[in-house]
Amino acid sequence: MSTLSKVFLFTFSFASWVFHTSAELQTFAHPLKSDGSLSFLVIGDWGRRGAYNQSRVAFQMGKVGEKLDIDFVVSTGDNFYDNGLVNVQDTAFLESFTNIYTAKSLQKQWYSVLGNHDYRGNAVAQLSPVLGEIDPRWLCLRSFIVNTELVEIFLVDTNPFVEEYFTETDGHKYDWRGILPQKSYISNLLKDLELALRESTAKWKIVVGHHAIRSVGYHGDTQELVTQLLPILQENNVDFYVNGHDHCLEHISDRESPIQFLTSGAGSKAWRGDTHEVNRRGLNFFYDGQGFMSVQLSQTEANIEFYDVFGNVLHRLTASKQLYSSI
Ligand SMILES: *[C@@H]1O[C@H](CO)[C@@H](O)[C@H](O)[C@H]1NC(C)=O
Ligand SMILES: [Zn+2]
Repeated sequence: MSTLSKVFLFTFSFASWVFHTSAELQTFAHPLKSDGSLSFLVIGDWGRRGAYNQSRVAFQMGKVGEKLDIDFVVSTGDNFYDNGLVNVQDTAFLESFTNIYTAKSLQKQWYSVLGNHDYRGNAVAQLSPVLGEIDPRWLCLRSFIVNTELVEIFLVDTNPFVEEYFTETDGHKYDWRGILPQKSYISNLLKDLELALRESTAKWKIVVGHHAIRSVGYHGDTQELVTQLLPILQENNVDFYVNGHDHCLEHISDRESPIQFLTSGAGSKAWRGDTHEVNRRGLNFFYDGQGFMSVQLSQTEANIEFYDVFGNVLHRLTASKQLYSSI
């Protein structure tokens, strides 16, 4: 490598380090429907070139997306298996995303976070605007906010919290460019998130991350998130925490707050069959097979549904908020 390119690389990584540790979370405004409501789908753990029922899930997403006239799609990460993308030219992007979610109703903005499998490849490639030129639906950032006034969605990169990805990597190599040093990265992220949550005036607050806070699926609870992230969500009136990682659909109620934990990580390979703690308090619903989730929001009501590969609604959750009232 020439001296010139070394200097360039150093400057580049320094600049991105400064950005990630001092910048506020980037916010994207998304308009509501004309009646003031909003609807979207949530899918996780999906990119397998259509295999393991990925295409069947995509087909049903298209039908439900049309019925609900969805505004966008949220991806909870593990976008491309097994090891993320190699680079921005990786054909997996077309074969697992563009050519799979082909329904007209799914030709909307996708807001995506990264999962641990994405970090096992070139994580930075998935964040590149070049992918948005290949398929304009694609937007993946580490941590960012989608603001629609009615709801503010805080998408959080949960990968840097998970200690074992740094200590016992089990032969896997993680792309930590832009994340190190881990401790200060996490503390800055939590500070930014806490501030943004505190300042939010949205009726509904939803936080999205790849890893579960609470799950009875294979991976179970993520202890680092229980200790570091959950208290911030509890203190700031978050309504829903939405994640993937466990390849299932589930709904668990927090025991200390009104927060509902929702897992939508069933975009392709599922049926692992090793659910534990089926008698856990607060567990409302668990499905080990493939599917996805829809969210419909108005000023007063949230309606969340889980679907299987046949389009059957397996579970529904409704929550309501009082309109402002005075006596
Ligand atoms: C696809 O879905 C069907 C229906 O749920 C299920 O029986 C089948 O095992 C699934 N296939 C795979 C590969 O998971
Ligand atoms: Zn994962």
